[in-house]
Amino acid sequence: MASPEQPDTHRSNTGTAGASPGSGPLFEAEGVSVRFGGLVALDDASLSVAPHRVHGVIGPNGAGKTTLFNVCCGFVRPSSGRLTWRGSAIPELRPHRLAGMGIARTLQGVGLFPGLSVVDNVMVGADHRRRAGFLSALFALPRSDTDERRLRAIAMAALRELDADSYADRFPASLPYPVQKRVAMARALAAEPELLLLDEPASGLGYDEITELGALVRTLATRMSVVVVDHHMDLVMSICDRITVLDFGRVVATGTPEEVRDDPAVIDAYLGEDARSPERSRDD
Ligand SMILES: Nc1ncnc2c1ncn2[C@@H]1O[C@H](COP(=O)(O)OP(=O)(O)O)[C@@H](O)[C@H]1O
Ligand SMILES: [Mg+2]
Repeated sequence: MASPEQPDTHRSNTGTAGASPGSGPLFEAEGVSVRFGGLVALDDASLSVAPHRVHGVIGPNGAGKTTLFNVCCGFVRPSSGRLTWRGSAIPELRPHRLAGMGIARTLQGVGLFPGLSVVDNVMVGADHRRRAGFLSALFALPRSDTDERRLRAIAMAALRELDADSYADRFPASLPYPVQKRVAMARALAAEPELLLLDEPASGLGYDEITELGALVRTLATRMSVVVVDHHMDLVMSICDRITVLDFGRVVATGTPEEVRDDPAVIDAYLGEDARSPERSRDD
């Protein structure tokens, strides 16, 4: 199932020093803790993602999966822990810094802007790739027009990859939910990430759509690493090279799909969920 490690020639100009490409993890979160008031959402959690791998993060509702993604893209500041990119600590855990480094994510649900057309939504994902400065954009100088055309082309290419380019001028609310999910994925791809975080990409999809999604994720792994949170175990088990299991904010297992499936701590986490729900479900 695992694809061979590939030399990484993509985005060689990020300016981040570190181990040579392909020789170690692309991205690591180490010992990350997050507290919301008295609630410990993440408790010393770690995640190590190798280049060109599909890495699953699973766990019961409220386990801290989305919070981990929020830390990885700078939406939530951890109270302790660090993130590394190719072996070097990321000094500034801010969204624009992490996006510029090559991290993109989809949101649980879809999270499209209702007032923007599909193509404009996707262009938002590519926005940090603008070359023209603020003043060029403000005064609509020629460089800003060129930029606009370039970003539109990037957005259309991402929509084509998701087979959603025919909806470019529509507004999200007029589209079926599975199409909205594809648009949200196109928005993340328009950033040309090296690390793509997918939060419940299969939720709300039918069987055939989930099968297509699995094939797409494996294809994407030829050019980026993908971390996927999802409750569809068949999908996660079939597309992931490695899986990290969270329960109550702690990592209870990490390994191959076969290893985590047979791990007593994982079975306990899920049996515990059945036994204790609905109180245990702390979100969704
Ligand atoms: N912004 C927030 N403020 C307060 N509590 C939060 C916030 N975000 C998440 N939580 C809580 O943190 C825990 C982990 O949530 P989350 O990361 O969304 O879990 P998962 O994605 O695994 O279902 C839950 O108990 C949730 O209610
Ligand atoms: Mg979640």
